[in-house]
Amino acid sequence: METLQRSPILNCQEEILNVSALSVFRSGSKVIEDINLSVNCGEFIGIVGPNGGGKSTLILTILGVLKPKTGSVKIYDESPLSKNVIGKVGWVPQTASKLPTNVQITVKEFIRLGVITKRSFYQLGKQQKEKVEKIIKVVGLEEYANTRITHLSGGQRQRAAIGKALVSDADLILMDEPMVGVDRESRNSIMKLLGGLCHQQNKTIVMISHDLAGMKQTVHRMIYLEEKIRFDGPTSEFPELSSLAQLRGIEYTIGEIETSEQKSSDNEAQIILVPGSRGEK
Ligand SMILES: Nc1ncnc2c1ncn2[C@@H]1O[C@H](COP(=O)(O)OP(=O)(O)O)[C@@H](O)[C@H]1O
Ligand SMILES: [Mg+2]
Repeated sequence: METLQRSPILNCQEEILNVSALSVFRSGSKVIEDINLSVNCGEFIGIVGPNGGGKSTLILTILGVLKPKTGSVKIYDESPLSKNVIGKVGWVPQTASKLPTNVQITVKEFIRLGVITKRSFYQLGKQQKEKVEKIIKVVGLEEYANTRITHLSGGQRQRAAIGKALVSDADLILMDEPMVGVDRESRNSIMKLLGGLCHQQNKTIVMISHDLAGMKQTVHRMIYLEEKIRFDGPTSEFPELSSLAQLRGIEYTIGEIETSEQKSSDNEAQIILVPGSRGEK
């Protein structure tokens, strides 16, 4: 894999995302409450929490898809849907590795979709073409550039989806459980790749994942979200799950609860947090 050459804006310390006193309701019920979050350029942040804890809701609100009931989301100090922000935020959904099987599109064509704008719809410029080639290498799919994505493994498709997000000009990339269905080896190398992009290319990544072990090895800041933010701090200070369970009214199981979508052979790496009955509520 090659590292992506980008004009070095080393040590960007700028705040890219600010979430203030945010609460979001869905179908009349409160889902997240009093969320305060400040994310600087170059950070790689992992979000964990029980199913239904509001992680996807938070991401969708940052994207501007859901509206806050109270509080605000600002990206570069502007609203998520403002003209200056569009194109600066990328989204990699969980379903990326399960693209429909009837799509006849090669890896290169798919990644190219990430740079298409109104202006470049018919013809990509030289620079954009080079960028596409470079990203294909960055995500380690050089050998598969002209292979149809339907012929790739789940992990390779996920790399393609990440490539599509990276090839765009997005500075902030939001990933909602992007590793579901991806084998452990690919997961590890994707995590390393993403960590490198944050450190070296000043991309900012906020990732929801159940793979606590994988995240602990890579991200430098962790957030535990269960309606409110219960923990936000350096990964090294993230509490042990057993103490979280006591503190936050959850129980943890290791690899026990996996939906058919999440089945994987390496159960020990899949730690699923589930709502429990103990603790404060
Ligand atoms: N489209 C929706 N309409 C109403 N409620 C929803 C919708 N999607 C999710 N919810 C509810 O919002 C809560 C949080 O969901 P979600 O943000 O998807 O959690 P997570 O991603 O942490 O599993 C859940 O109680 C869920 O039932
Ligand atoms: Mg979710």
